[in-house]
Parts: sequence; C-alpha cells; structure tokens
Amino acid sequence: MITADTCTLLKKLAEKIQQQLGLSFNEGRIAELEKAMQRVAEKLGMADAQSCVNKLLASNWQKEEIDALVHELTIGETYFFRDKKLWDVLEQRLLPALLGQAENERRGLNLWSAACCTGEEPYSLAMLLKRMSARHKFSKPNILATDLNQRFLDHAAQAIYSNWSFRTTSTAFQREFFQPMNAKHRLSSEIRSMVEFRHYNLASSSEHPCPTRKQKFDLIICRNVFVYFSQEKASAAILNLSRMLHENGVLIISPHDMWCCPSQQLESEVICDVYVLRLRKTKLELCGATSRVETVTKRCAGSNQEKEIPDAGGQINKGEPKRQDAKSEPRVLPKKNSYVDTAQSQQEKFQGRTPSVAELKILLEALCNAGTTAEALQWNDKAIEMHPLDESLYYTKANILHELGQHEQAIKHLLQAVFLNQNFVMAHFSLYHVHRVTGNTAQAQIFLRNVRGLLEKSNKDEILPEGDGMTVGQLLQAIN
Ligand SMILES: C[S@@+](CC[C@H](N)C(=O)[O-])C[C@H]1O[C@@H](n2cnc3c(N)ncnc32)[C@H](O)[C@@H]1O
Repeated sequence: MITADTCTLLKKLAEKIQQQLGLSFNEGRIAELEKAMQRVAEKLGMADAQSCVNKLLASNWQKEEIDALVHELTIGETYFFRDKKLWDVLEQRLLPALLGQAENERRGLNLWSAACCTGEEPYSLAMLLKRMSARHKFSKPNILATDLNQRFLDHAAQAIYSNWSFRTTSTAFQREFFQPMNAKHRLSSEIRSMVEFRHYNLASSSEHPCPTRKQKFDLIICRNVFVYFSQEKASAAILNLSRMLHENGVLIISPHDMWCCPSQQLESEVICDVYVLRLRKTKLELCGATSRVETVTKRCAGSNQEKEIPDAGGQINKGEPKRQDAKSEPRVLPKKNSYVDTAQSQQEKFQGRTPSVAELKILLEALCNAGTTAEALQWNDKAIEMHPLDESLYYTKANILHELGQHEQAIKHLLQAVFLNQNFVMAHFSLYHVHRVTGNTAQAQIFLRNVRGLLEKSNKDEILPEGDGMTVGQLLQAIN
C-alpha cells in the first residue's frame, strides 16, 4: 500500500523521468514505478526505495543513475531480424532504392538504428547489406547504432549472443556470420566493424548523434521504444529524427507509434504491411511493382487532407441502440433480415461512375445487415481500391473480419486505419478490443492508452467519427 506522501514523491519523480528520459508513468503506473525503484535502489547500493527516490529528486542525474533507471524502467527485448516482414521489405524494396540514390550521389549509405539495445538490430542491417553486396555493387555503408543504456551498448560492442537472440533467425545466417563461443555465438569481426555504437538519449537530445560528421541519414530505424514515451515526448523525438533524414530518407517506427508522428514533412506509406515514413521532396522509385491498395501514401497529421464525410445514412449501425458497455464491445456490425433491397438499389445507382465513400458505406451497411458478409467484404475491397486513403473503409473491413473471427486480419486493417489517421479514436479502441479478446494484454493496454490520450485532448461533447453517435465524454467515462 503506497502512502499519500510516497505517492506524491513518486509522481514528482515520474515527471522528472518523463522530462529527462521520455518514459511515461501516469497515475495507473505509479505502483509499477514504486516496485522498479526498489530494484533501482539495490542497483545503486542504496538502503531502500524511499531514500533512492529522495536522492533522485534532489540531484542532477549522473550516467550511472540514468543507466539504473533505464535498465529497470524499459524492456531490453530484442533479437536478430525481429519482424521478418520488415527485413524482407528492406532487402527487396527499400535498401535497393536507397542504395541507388546514394550511388547516384557518389556516397555510401548512412543508416542509424536508434534505440538499438544490445545490437541485434544494427547487426541485422549489417549482415543484410553484406549479403546484398554479393548481388549489387555499392560503396561501404555507414551504420550508426545508439541507445540510452550504456550496458546494452557494451554488450553490443562485445557481440556475443545466446541462442535467444536467434529465435527467428535462419541457421544459414548464424553459420555464415557467427563463430561458436562457450555455448554462445560471437559475430564475425567483419560485421562488427561495420557498426559504430554511441550513447544517445532520444528524449533530450536534439543534436546530431555524431556531432563531428553530421551526415544525414538515408534510413533510421527506431522501433519498440516510443511505447514507453509520453505522446508529447514521442512526437518531439520523431520530429527530431525526421530532421536528420536525407531527402527521400526513410524512417521506420513501430505501427503503434504512428499516431505520434507530428511532422508535416513526412509522408507515410504501407509497403507489404510495413509502415514507413519518408521525408519526401522528390519521388523515389521503389523497386518492384506496388498495387494501389498495397502501398498507400498520405501526409502525416493528415488534417490538411479534404475528407468525404458520410451522411447519417452512411453510418454503419445507424439506428442501433447505443452500446451500454462500450469498453467490452467497441463495434460489431449487426445482421438484420431485409436490407437486400437497399443493397440492390444502391448498386444500381453506381452504374457507370465511381461511387462516393458515403454511398459505398450505405451499401456496406446494407450488405452486412442482410447477412451477406462475403459480398460485403468484396465490396469493401472494391471501395478501398476506389478510395485507398479513406481510413473508415479499412475500419469497416476490420469490423467485418473481427466479426468473422479473423482477428489477425482485423488488426492489420485497423493498423492501416490508424496509419492513415493517427487520431482515429474508434480504430485505436477497436485495436484495444481485438488485442484484449485475443489475450494480448500488453498490446491492448498500449491502444487503451492511445484512446485515453486522444479523448483527453478532445472536446467532451464531440461526436466520435464511426462511434455510432457516441461522444468523447461517453467513451472516456466507459473506459475509466
Ligand atoms: C525494446 S528495446 C528495442 C530494441 C530494438 N529497437 C528492437 O526493436 O528490437 C527498447 C530500447 O530503447 C532504449 N531506450 C529507452 N529510452 C530511450 C531513450 N530515451 N533514448 C534512447 N534509447 C532509449 C532502451 O534502452 C532499449 O534498449
């Protein structure tokens, strides 16, 4: 049981942590912070958590204290080639295009793995490029890797890994680039020499990570870190990273961080399910063909894009009773008996022209309510093809898929909806719900936090888009 005094001190410490390290400990996580402080006290050789909190509140933090905090407050979880799709997209699409651009400019590629943890991410890049060098000719790339935690960086520089770091890596990579070493594996000196490690705090540095060279980056990978940040700090850090990108340079962050993306200069793209941000001034040809739906591009913070607002009849679930327990049931399409006529007359209206989003949504609603889900899905796909930048169409498809029990596909479409509009509350809320029903509590919590953050910034009487008439205040009440 935390006393009121301790709670006040912990909240002050949480503020200081957020300020200096970016890490967010809101009201709901104060008990977690208290537990972590017991471990921090042990690490720093202090008598107890209370004296540790007092000392941290009173002093300017030294590196040892920052490391102890970072070690206890973040998860140093990483492994080689984490998220296979990303590495496929890098190998087949992004790196060849970026290498081509760098070669045209007669320079080597500049890459940065920000928040690299124990080095698996930047070394994966180095191994991939080494493999690619057998097929393409290019100048030696520069790979920079940074992290806040000096212990992780020391581990990275040693480059000795246990089997756990190879949990999804093909044995071919392991055989090619590692030598066995006392039940572990040591990375070859050639790959080690391709990566330079440096200390860098994403939350407080706006400086370039290499002040002497200051080269811009073709690719920055910064994944699985902003989940610990407050939205404000994450947005500031992403903006800072975007300033260090080359023209056409690419920034890769985790999909659930997309909604923090603040920069008007960045454009977002989905390439084979991988979310990338690009500093776009001129058009860079990607390698390989892309279909209209597969690759969608939109200016981030897309409020400057004109939107087609469906009329009331275009709202799926119109006329349904309002949800009582919004927290447990974000959105389910109803099946009713006789919407076939509406569906037919709606399709007749489309003859010879491209229907609007609003018209398509009336049709989708009718098809769902008539119970013809397969047809609804087909029309939803056509609708997305006609209007690939309309987030609500990905949302309606996700809801149909969710109802069919295709949770993974539903998540994919909800992420695309959020990607197109980071402020799409109901999509975040559905992501919370789908993750919760599939037992992925950690992810569910991330999206619930997103929902709360967005709602707290909005006017309580505002009606939520796609929310069946629910207001911001009503949803806030439900989730609280
Ligand atoms: C979960 S790991 C992610 C590692 C890797 N990017 C990946 O996706 O596999 C998170 C890393 O973020 C680092 N980190 C946390 N706060 C940071 C900050 N303010 N600046 C730089 N790195 C930070 C942690 O030390 C940790 O190594």
